[in-house]
Amino acid sequence: MSTLQKKTPARLFYLHMGSKAPQRQTDFYQRVLDMQCEPQPDGSVVLKGPGRTVLISPADNHGLLAAAFRLTSQQDQNDLRQRLEQKGCPTQDTISPLMQAGSFSIRDPQGRETIFGVARDTHEANLPGLPGRLQHVVFQTTELEAMVNFYVNTVGFTISDNVVDQESGQLMVCFLRSDDEHHSLAFFRGSQNEWDHHCYETCEWNDIRDWGDRFAKEHISIFFGPGRHGPGNNLFFMVVDPDKNRLEFSAELETKAADQAPGEWPQCERTLNAWGRAWIRK
Ligand SMILES: [Fe+2]
Repeated sequence: MSTLQKKTPARLFYLHMGSKAPQRQTDFYQRVLDMQCEPQPDGSVVLKGPGRTVLISPADNHGLLAAAFRLTSQQDQNDLRQRLEQKGCPTQDTISPLMQAGSFSIRDPQGRETIFGVARDTHEANLPGLPGRLQHVVFQTTELEAMVNFYVNTVGFTISDNVVDQESGQLMVCFLRSDDEHHSLAFFRGSQNEWDHHCYETCEWNDIRDWGDRFAKEHISIFFGPGRHGPGNNLFFMVVDPDKNRLEFSAELETKAADQAPGEWPQCERTLNAWGRAWIRK
């Protein structure tokens, strides 16, 4: 099967956030996440830090407008677009201040937008600041099976781990990869369709400490963690930004070979946090 990992590896590149208070969001990402601000002609703002980029636009509601994945070449971009069209998934030309010409977007059956393209420049990897590469994005969904079916069978993500309710046998969480990293996308079964969180992958445990101290200075409390996830085996903690979007800081995320079979975990606190209490989505 033509998976992203095997044919056209993709990495999360930037998130396009909408905000009712874009200046407050911009200030936060500039000050707390060491990101440099590049105002755009349409009133949006690009923010770049080491390995992380966000685009913030004024909007009626806060939340995620699109997640953008970076492909390694124009050839991969064209191959993926052709594969998607062949599978009956409409693609749309996208004009992005961060992507080269030829980037395109798709929408999943619940309307989430994903952009694929080749980065216009990659120098943001060398910007100064605490390390934390934008690495994954996660959603809650009322239609978990349909989302997994779309992202696996149409888009080409690979299942790394499933979390299953042991009594009902129902799938509760699915972690999906688009290259060697354990997950760049995940879906939790939920009572609502909402953006769950996004994650910055650091280099090591000491970076987690430094980010914790950074948020302590800002009087921002950790609401989940520190701990270690079962699936992915990564160290983590989570905080919120001024719009209440959830941010995760992670280290030691595992990698998976292309043909590795999906793992299965029971739905319990220990799966989501081997160290203790967990945030169980309802
Ligand atoms: Fe996460």
